Amino acid sequence: MSKGFILSDEVLNHEINDPAYKEKYNFNPSDQLNNLDLFTKGQPFSLYKDLRENAPVFYHEPMPSDPEPGYWVLTKYEDIKYVSMNPKIFSSQYATGNLLTLGTEENRHPKLFKSTIDHMLNLDGEMHLGLRKEHMPFFKPDYINVLRKKVSSKVGLLLDNIAPLGECNLVSEVSQQLPIFTLSEILGIPEEDRQKLVSWMEFLELAQYFTYEMIKEQNEGKTESTPDPAMIDMFNAMVDEMFDYGRFILNSKRENPSEDLLSAIANAEIEGEKLSQEFLDGSWLLIIFAGNDTTRNTLSGGIKLLYDNQKQKELLIDDLELLPNFVNETVRCVSPVIHMRRTTLEETEINGQKIGPHEKIALWYGAANRDPEIFENPDDFNILRENADKHLAFGFGRHSCIGKPVALMQLQEFYSQFLTRFPDFEMNGKWKVAPNNFVHAIQEMPIKFSPK
Ligand code: HEM
Repeated sequence: MSKGFILSDEVLNHEINDPAYKEKYNFNPSDQLNNLDLFTKGQPFSLYKDLRENAPVFYHEPMPSDPEPGYWVLTKYEDIKYVSMNPKIFSSQYATGNLLTLGTEENRHPKLFKSTIDHMLNLDGEMHLGLRKEHMPFFKPDYINVLRKKVSSKVGLLLDNIAPLGECNLVSEVSQQLPIFTLSEILGIPEEDRQKLVSWMEFLELAQYFTYEMIKEQNEGKTESTPDPAMIDMFNAMVDEMFDYGRFILNSKRENPSEDLLSAIANAEIEGEKLSQEFLDGSWLLIIFAGNDTTRNTLSGGIKLLYDNQKQKELLIDDLELLPNFVNETVRCVSPVIHMRRTTLEETEINGQKIGPHEKIALWYGAANRDPEIFENPDDFNILRENADKHLAFGFGRHSCIGKPVALMQLQEFYSQFLTRFPDFEMNGKWKVAPNNFVHAIQEMPIKFSPK
């Protein structure tokens, strides 16, 4: 019997080329986008600005320990939109759309390695459209209206829990909890299993750091930053547990389907065949990561933006009708997905830069969202901004975020209740951000407020 379609088998043999054209911007940036530590201070918006102004299509060298060639960095809004709209030239499938580099198989957790490849974010053409269609019913307005009521009650309960405390780490008490609740409702995950997702998420946010450090260790030996072996064991155990659970629940939904997204995924087909085990693993990873992490970090990120911009906070509290635009402006400024990647299928040109086939292109959404040609005074957080909804934080084109309406709904429900109940909130110490240049991952957000 056929095992079904497995993308990772073919993608791993696809070559990535060095730049075919030697003529390129000669610019020496002040730091490397591969420097994960840089991202623990928040996104490096001034580095993005330097790149956008001096080398909008910039060839970034790989890390010294990276087995693949480097990648083109796009920082201008129109360039990123152009690439996203032309999937026949800029493929998500050829060498995946989700990581700058895959490294070699032995450097990675075996299940994590394959499952970062085998999912719909990394498909082109009809296969992608077919699988995306299976997800669609769970992102339509009617479905979301029903979900909104449940989300609203959950926000109420989460805020009841923190109200008497007068202070908390917003990430662990609210930002982690709400997206897990919402996603579990969509996926059909039983209540007693939901807390497990919280710890899996924390480890997944560190996956990129572990992978980089392990590749570095193999090439350069142990360094000060090499993670503790006990930590790596714990990471591997968590990842195993996450995939074992995914397999268990998807298999049971295949046998006994119900009205939820996991049942739809478990019974979806690619080219007339049910999804392979690899695609089930990958689809599980994609949905729990994409559906959680992004909203969670925007939720926390908005708190910092409001605290740092007191006038905007007062404006919003005085007129909660501004909430939808505030949410768009927050997503623009936070841009929680830092970049996505495409690979050229043919010789092409972006904004005057010639590029050969099979070269990597990285779309830096946070940079596009602060492009002054599109957004006036782009570094200002302005909840009255007229084109706040034009941001590219959800991507653009065929792969643009399917979960956008769910994310916006959760952010609106949270902020309308939070600001009504805790209008005097303040930050109560420093935030902590994970060393990650793929997602802006806020791990701690201490706040205080008058207890209720
Ligand atoms: C603020 C919150 C969110 C942001 C900023 C965000 C951002 C993104 C981005 C940038 C992409 C890729 C676009 C591309 O490659 O062109 C994407 C794809 C995706 N997102 Fe989101 N996302 C968010 C919330 C969610 C939620 C809540 C869910 C699910 C409940 C979700 C599920 C997905 C899925 C399944 C894809 C793949 C779509 C495809 O390949 O067709 N996302 N998202």
